[in-house]
Amino acid sequence: MPSVSLAPDLEKPEEYKTLEVELSQTLYDECERQAVPLPHGCLAGSCGSCRIEVVEGADNLKPASLIEQNTIDALKEELVERYGAEFVEGKEIRLACRARLVKDGKVKFRPFK
Ligand code: FES
Repeated sequence: MPSVSLAPDLEKPEEYKTLEVELSQTLYDECERQAVPLPHGCLAGSCGSCRIEVVEGADNLKPASLIEQNTIDALKEELVERYGAEFVEGKEIRLACRARLVKDGKVKFRPFK
């Protein structure tokens, strides 16, 4: 069964919890269904409140849609202005309300500042 490991608390990003999940559901919905609430806002891919950093298994997620990618690009621009390019360099940022597990594998992620 596919699974996600997540660090739901930004204060303790090294502590991951593993959940078994259903394919094709969003990471947000699966976490919510299993009583692990994530930060969120619009749940439509446009506000960026549910941003996460995927630290493992990004290839097991469906590629970002245009709306998700546009939101991620805007977020990255904002973060680069605020913290510098190295803050986002090499990081796989996705939106939990849009990212769907499409392969039977594992995804490890944490909320992103
Ligand atoms: S909750 Fe707004 S983009 Fe995910």
